[in-house]
Amino acid sequence: MTLTLNINGQDHPLDIDPDTPLLWALRDNLGLTGTKYGCGIGQCGACTVHIDGQAVRSCAMPVEACAAQRVTTIEALSPDRSHAIQRAWIEGQVPQCGYCQSGMIMAAVALLKENPKPSDADIDAAITNLCRCGTYPRVRAAIKAAAG
Ligand code: FES
Repeated sequence: MTLTLNINGQDHPLDIDPDTPLLWALRDNLGLTGTKYGCGIGQCGACTVHIDGQAVRSCAMPVEACAAQRVTTIEALSPDRSHAIQRAWIEGQVPQCGYCQSGMIMAAVALLKENPKPSDADIDAAITNLCRCGTYPRVRAAIKAAAG
């Protein structure tokens, strides 16, 4: 089946099974490997992207459900890393191993869009992504720094 996905502002017609998780279309069909595979069951958040501006776990989203929507991946956030969140992440040296961090960043951007001045409790409620290195205190601090 041919489906057209709008990814990072460009239409991509793909010959793909409509049940394919968006994560695999991004990584395998389009080479957008900034979106990571962690659990594959919508639990860890490593695969977080935006669909029409909302944070979504792409491993649990069939491509058919995304066909009429705008998908944004970490690659389109800011190619020169000048987005406020990316600057805060770099300045705060948030990542340890780094594997989960693109998903964390996408979740953080969606949070700040909805809530420009989140409290610690707001951050903890919104950012449910898992990090095996335990970078949560630095994630929280960087979100607050980006919020200004
Ligand atoms: Fe999608 Fe874990 S890989 S939530």
